[in-house]
Amino acid sequence: MNPLLARLHPYPFERLRELTRGITPNPTYRPISLGIGEPKHATPELIKRALTDNLAGLASYPATAGEPKLREACAAWVQRRYGVTLDAATQVLPVNGSREALFALAQTVIDPTGPGATVVCPNPFYQIYEGAALLAGAQPHYANSDPARNFAPDWASVPDAVWARTQLLYVCSPGNPTGAVMPLAEWKTLFELSDRHGFVIASDECYSEIYFRDEPPLGGLEAALQLGRRDFRNLVALTSLSKRSNVPGMRSGFVAGDAAILKQFLLYRTYHGSAMSPVVQAASIAAWNDEAHVVDNRNLYRTKFGG
Ligand SMILES: Cc1ncc(COP(=O)(O)O)c(C=O)c1O
Repeated sequence: MNPLLARLHPYPFERLRELTRGITPNPTYRPISLGIGEPKHATPELIKRALTDNLAGLASYPATAGEPKLREACAAWVQRRYGVTLDAATQVLPVNGSREALFALAQTVIDPTGPGATVVCPNPFYQIYEGAALLAGAQPHYANSDPARNFAPDWASVPDAVWARTQLLYVCSPGNPTGAVMPLAEWKTLFELSDRHGFVIASDECYSEIYFRDEPPLGGLEAALQLGRRDFRNLVALTSLSKRSNVPGMRSGFVAGDAAILKQFLLYRTYHGSAMSPVVQAASIAAWNDEAHVVDNRNLYRTKFGG
């Protein structure tokens, strides 16, 4: 058996179920679920239609790189959303949801033989970052949230000696669970650290389309471009349809950024066998090409929660 499996912690929802077993909630209060972050609204009709209209795709094996039309739809969305131009052939790759990609990226970029191979991640954090680090043979290091800065991760708390052996940094903006959004100055600091120490930044942006007011959160690729980093070196952004389009069951997202990393990531994924179903690819194209359902979704959240 792989000994690294023994280093994994039980998934938080299992722990939560254990903690709450046998507890009867006070019926006077309406419970707020702190469980799995599942969208609460219906899947848009146009996505369901695209799925059923393309069932013929079940008869073919998909390529791991995805159809050019899908990669182009993702790149066009990045252009509209962030004003960033990507080469759809080399800087975009479809993935089966951001979770598997967050995990697989660590398996691709970590060299476990590197001295003290380390993965830095925010704390609290999406538990996949930690499991990905452990199974890649690296040591996680946690940057705790700073209450004085609206619970943004305190990157300054990470000692230089830790940055020196860091191979991968996970960031999450807007952050789960704090909602903190990384401003340009924070990106600048992290890019400088990445340049100095040579680590890869994996930017988890699965909540990028759920925001209050009319201020779309800054994305990693957008920040890189604003800082003149046109090659997106050592940066991979991970984006998902799950929350944007209410389709967590479809398992669809994409990664975009440094072409050299994506080339190796594609190689890894080909062997791992993580090609996206042609049916899901067709529905994903429909979803990325449509913004109206995302605006409707955001308005529903605003009606419920204000902002
Ligand atoms: C911070 C964060 N990243 C990534 C994911 C994974 O989302 P998906 O795999 O559906 O794209 C989640 C899901 O809840 C999440 O909370």
